[in-house]
Amino acid sequence: MATIHVDGNDYEVEDSDNLLHACLSLGLDIPYFCWHPAMGSVGACRQCAVKQYKDADDDRGMLVMSCMAPVKDDAYISIADAEAKVFRETVIEFLMVNHPHDCPVCEEGGHCHLQDMTVMTGHDRRRYRFRKRTHRNQNLGPFIAHEMNRCITCYRCTRFYQDYAGGEDLGAFGAHDNVYFGRVTDGTLESEFSGNLTEVCPTGVFTDQTHSDHYTRKWDLQFAPSVCHQCASGCNISPGERYGDIRRIENRYNGDVNGYFLCDRGRFGYGYVNRKDRPTRPECREAGGEARTMEVDEALDLAADRLRGARRLIGIGSPRASLESNHRLRQLVGAANFSTGIEAGELARIRRMQALNREAGLATPSLREIEQCDAILVLGEDLIQSAARVALSVRQAVRGKGAELGAERGIPEWNAEAVKTIAQDAGHPLFLATPDVTKLDGIAAHAERLAPDDIARLGFAVAHALDSTAPAVEGLDAATSQLVERIADALLAAKKPLIIAGESLGSMAILEAAGNIARALGRRQRSDAGLTLVRREANSVGLGLLGGESLDWALAQLETGDADGVVILENDLYTRLPAPRVDSALGRATALVVVDHQRTPTWGRADIGLPAGTFAESDGTLVSLEGRAQRFYQVFDPSYMRPDTRIRESWRWLHALHATLERQPVETILLDDLTQAVAEDAPALAPLHQNTPEAMFRIHGLKLAREPHRYSGRTAMRANLDVNEPRAPMDLDTPFAFSMEGYSGYREPRREVAFAWAPGWNSPQAWNKFQDEVGGHLRAGDPGKRLFTAAAAGGDYCTDIPVAFKPREGEWQVLDLPQLFGGDDMSRRAEPIRERMAPPQVALNQTDAAGLGIGAGDAVSIAVDGTRFRLPARLSAGLPPGVVGLPAGSIQEVTGGLTPGAVRWGAVAKAEHDGQAPAGEARP
Ligand code: SF4
Ligand code: SF4
Ligand code: FES
Repeated sequence: MATIHVDGNDYEVEDSDNLLHACLSLGLDIPYFCWHPAMGSVGACRQCAVKQYKDADDDRGMLVMSCMAPVKDDAYISIADAEAKVFRETVIEFLMVNHPHDCPVCEEGGHCHLQDMTVMTGHDRRRYRFRKRTHRNQNLGPFIAHEMNRCITCYRCTRFYQDYAGGEDLGAFGAHDNVYFGRVTDGTLESEFSGNLTEVCPTGVFTDQTHSDHYTRKWDLQFAPSVCHQCASGCNISPGERYGDIRRIENRYNGDVNGYFLCDRGRFGYGYVNRKDRPTRPECREAGGEARTMEVDEALDLAADRLRGARRLIGIGSPRASLESNHRLRQLVGAANFSTGIEAGELARIRRMQALNREAGLATPSLREIEQCDAILVLGEDLIQSAARVALSVRQAVRGKGAELGAERGIPEWNAEAVKTIAQDAGHPLFLATPDVTKLDGIAAHAERLAPDDIARLGFAVAHALDSTAPAVEGLDAATSQLVERIADALLAAKKPLIIAGESLGSMAILEAAGNIARALGRRQRSDAGLTLVRREANSVGLGLLGGESLDWALAQLETGDADGVVILENDLYTRLPAPRVDSALGRATALVVVDHQRTPTWGRADIGLPAGTFAESDGTLVSLEGRAQRFYQVFDPSYMRPDTRIRESWRWLHALHATLERQPVETILLDDLTQAVAEDAPALAPLHQNTPEAMFRIHGLKLAREPHRYSGRTAMRANLDVNEPRAPMDLDTPFAFSMEGYSGYREPRREVAFAWAPGWNSPQAWNKFQDEVGGHLRAGDPGKRLFTAAAAGGDYCTDIPVAFKPREGEWQVLDLPQLFGGDDMSRRAEPIRERMAPPQVALNQTDAAGLGIGAGDAVSIAVDGTRFRLPARLSAGLPPGVVGLPAGSIQEVTGGLTPGAVRWGAVAKAEHDGQAPAGEARP
C-alpha cells in the first residue's frame, strides 16, 4: 500500500496501480479516453493530465499523464490545479477539432463517454473555424454501424479488437492527424466480439446497428439486471426496452464473470423477443382444425379438462427455462413424472460433468480466474463456438505471459504497450485438441487435430504422464507420446493449470479423460488447478442439479402408452430427437399442453398452447457452467404496452394450471417462495435462497428503479391506446419498480444493478462507480452464488479408454461442429444472427474429398440416422480422415432434427447431378 496526497487529502492506495486507476478507485473524477480498466494504459490521448509535485514543499510541480504515472508512496498530486485543468480542456478541444459535434443525431448521445468528458473538462466553446477533415464510412455488417468522423484517435478500438480479442480485420490506417479506424475494405467484421466496440469506443464511431433499426436514447429505455440465455457461460446483461420491444443489450458488469465484455451472440441475438409471430394469447387446436385464440380462464379450464382425461400425466422441462419454471412443472406432474427435456446421451454427460466438478478434486474457475491460469489444455471444445466468453478469458490467460515477463523487468501490468512489446509472440502455453481448425489455433503452443476418441486417448495419456497410477494408453505413436510429455510438463510447471473439456462432440470418453487429468493433478497436490466443463445451454447445469428423466424416457412413456397426457415447457423437441420419433410419441398423447414463447414445431402440435414470457418478460434463476446460480429479472411487463397480450411467466402459467387441475382457486404466487421451494427440494440447489435480494429489499425505503431519472414520454407512450395513463405495473416478485421512481444511485452498495449511471457518468464507464476498485468487483459483491464445491481428489481413475480411431470403409464419423452464430435455438431466430450463420455444409477432409471426387462447393449426399440429405461440401485442412463435420444449428434446420452432439456414422458420396442446387438455405 502507499499513501498519496491529492489536493490536500491523504489516501491509502495500492502501490501497484497507476495514479488514474488509484484516483478513480477512490471515487475522484479525472477525465480519460485511451485508458481502459481491462486494457491498461498507452498514454495516447493526453486527457488524464494531473499536476505531480516532488514533495510537500514543491509549489510548481509538473504535468503528468496520470494513467502512465505509477503510484509512489508519499506522492503529492493535484487534479484541481489550474494549469492541469486548462491542459485537459485544451486537449479535448484538439481531440474534437474534426469531430462533427452531431450529438442530436448521434446514437452514442446520452451514453457517450466523449460527452461526459466534455462536460467534465468544461470545454464548451468551439474555436476551430476551418474545414473539418471527413472520412467515408464503411459497411461493417449487420452488427456494427460506422461513423468515422466522430473519431478522437484514442486507439481503444484496435487495442480491444486486435490485442484483447485477437481480431485481424480492423486496424488503424494513415498517419499524423489523418488516421482511419476500419477495415481494408467494406465487409462484415469477423471477430465474434465486435459488439464490444460499441462500449469500448468512447464516441459514436462504432454503434449498435441492431439498435439503430429501432433507436431509443439510453435514458428512455427501461432496464433490468439479466443473464444471457444464449449459452451456458452466464454473462450478465442489461437489456433495454421501449414500447414493449427489446431495443439493445448492453454489458452488465460482473467482476467474476464477463467483466466488461460479451460475445456477439449474446449482445445481438435478442431479436426472438421482438418477433411478430410470437404467440401472445392462449391457443387451442380443435381436432384437425385451425388454432383458435382464447382468454386465460377458458384456456386453463380447457387445458385442465384435457389433462384430467389423461390416465397418466408427464412433464417435459427445458434447459432453456428457469429453475423456477422447471420446478413448478415438476410439482405439477410429480417428481417421478418429470423429464428434463434433454436427450438421454446429453443428460448422461451433463450428470457426469456435475459429478466430475464435485469429485475430481479441482475447483471450477470463474471467467476472471481463468484469465489468471498459466497453462491450459482444451480437450474437444472449439471454445469460440461453444462458449465464446470462456474463449476470450482463455486468450487473456495466454497473454498473461506478457505481464509475467514485464514484472521480471519491473514493468507493471497496466503499462500495456511496454508489456506488449516485451511479450512479442510469447504466451502461456495453450494446448488444443479438436477435430477441426479453431480461431484459438493462432495463439496455441500446439493445436492437434483428432477424432473424438483420439482426443480422449490424448487426455488419458496426459493423466498417466502426470501420475503413473492413472491407466496408461497403449499404442500411441512417437509424436503423440512426445506431445503428451510436453503437455504434462507444462501443466506441472504452471502455477495455475487449467483443463477444459465439454460435451460439444458428444463424447463421454473426453469427459472421463479430463476427469483423469483432474484427479492426477489433484493427487500431485495441485489444488490451485482448475477444471472447466462446457455445457450447451443456459440452464443445462441447473437442470442436471434439479434432477429428472431424459427426453427419451418421456417419449418412451408416450410411445408405450404408459402416459398419455403431457405438458411441455419451453422446449422444441424436434431440435433434440429425430422428427419421426417425436411425431410418433406426441401423436399418441391424448392431451398435449405446450408453454412457450416461440412458434416452434412442438408448439404446432399442442392441443392447448400457453404464451410464455421470454427472459425479458420473466424472472427466474439459471445456473452457469461455472456452477453459479444467477437470477435474471423481468425487463418489462408486456401487457403495459400491449393490453391484448396474455403473456405470463411460464412458472405463473404452470402454477395456475396446477390449481385449476386440482379445482382450487389460483392463489397469488411469489417468486421468492418458488425459489425457496426449489432450494428445499433439491439438496444441490440449497444455497439458492442466499442468491438474491428478496422482494422486500429496499434502499432508504425505496424500491430499485428500472428506468433512468430522465425517462421521458411516460404520460404519452400509451396515448394511442387510452388517454388515461394507467398506473405502472406492480412488481411484487422483486425489489425493482417498473418506473424511474426508486433508487438508482451508486453510493449504496448493491449487487443487482439494472443500468449503470452516476452523476456525470452516462457511458458504460459509470461501472467504475459501483466497483470496490476500478475493474475489480462490485462493492456489494458480484452477483450470483457458486454451487459447486470441489472435494479433495477422490474416486478411482476411469479405465475405459477407447481404442484408437480408425476410418471405416465407406462410412464416416459425423460430428456436430458447434457454431456461435445459429448454434442455439433462440438467437437463431434473430435476423442479424441469421446473417452470420454458417451455411449448412458438410466439412470433409481434403484427402477424403479427393478420394470421393468431391471439390469445394460440390453437392454431397450424406445419409445419417435414417435421413438422407444433400449439402454443399466444405474442404477442411483440419478434419482427420474418416470424419465429417456438420455445423450445429443450421444443420438441424435443414435435416429436421438430428440429435445435437450425438456421435453418429453415416455414408457420404458425391451427389448425383440432378440439376438441383444443393440445400444451402436454412428454413426460416
Ligand atoms: S474509433 Fe473510437 S475507439 Fe477507435 S480510435 Fe476512434 S474514438 Fe477511439
Ligand atoms: S458467451 Fe454465452 S452467455 Fe456470454 S454473451 Fe455470449 S452467448 Fe451470452
Ligand atoms: S487516458 Fe491517460 S493518456 Fe489517455
